[in-house]
Amino acid sequence: MRIVPLTPAIGAELHGLNIGSMNASDFPAVRSAWLRHKVLFLPGQSLDLEGLERFSRRFGELVQLPYIRPVEGHPEVIRVLKEAHETDMGVFGGEWHSDFSFLPAPPSASILYSVETPPSGGDTLWVDMSLAWKRLPESDRRLLAGATAVHTGKPYGVSHAPEESTRFKGSIVMERDNPEADRETRHPAVCRHPETGEQMLFVNPTYTTRIEGPDGIVGTRFLEKLYAHCVRPEFACRWRWQPGVVAIWDNRNTMHYAVNDYDGQRREMLRTAIRGEPPVAVPA
Ligand code: SIN
Repeated sequence: MRIVPLTPAIGAELHGLNIGSMNASDFPAVRSAWLRHKVLFLPGQSLDLEGLERFSRRFGELVQLPYIRPVEGHPEVIRVLKEAHETDMGVFGGEWHSDFSFLPAPPSASILYSVETPPSGGDTLWVDMSLAWKRLPESDRRLLAGATAVHTGKPYGVSHAPEESTRFKGSIVMERDNPEADRETRHPAVCRHPETGEQMLFVNPTYTTRIEGPDGIVGTRFLEKLYAHCVRPEFACRWRWQPGVVAIWDNRNTMHYAVNDYDGQRREMLRTAIRGEPPVAVPA
């Protein structure tokens, strides 16, 4: 196996591993590269649905995701699809977010497998929320340490959510009004990574509706500055897809963004998520 970092901060390609024929003894190296680089890309794979499920289960138990109708017969797999004729609309994941942060125990990892990709466009970006926390000015860190972030899965309608006209619709069938996912969930704004011990910001503009600090609700201007800081290019990597790539990201210390710039082209991905644990605050 050969690991090629994409940036010093986040993201690495892993070459020399065929997922279809990998052994259990190959897995520890994959897992430690994933924890180290936060997003791992394995090009040159050829997987069917069962193969994707099998590989995903190596990372933990699969979860059935709220709101999105899964692939028939595969309740833990969703198809992220935009057809060529689906133009002038939002895409799934087309705003900065960490997956399902509104759940009491958000996924620890998400896995995306590219089936069909546009010749150009449809890239995905990730940012490293541990580095973003590390590089935050001391006064902002003081304000956020010990703060609580309120998340809701009823994202469309909160201040940073896309306008109605640009929201995702189309090939992914969304089943809204899920009382369990719609309710508010509170997580620490700054968490300790359960495996690496790193500290990280755990907030995102899609699902975090407000942050409650020691002196009350953190203002909108502060949040805008905070999110602008988190998505600085120094903390980011950008992946240009081709078919047959498996990406695995750590959902606890990253946010990601699917770029919606490929109208007129078809893009199809399959996706799974791994059960996580309730986020834990950094010790005071
Ligand atoms: C997502 O999981 O948010 C979508 C990512 C993508 O389609 O690139």
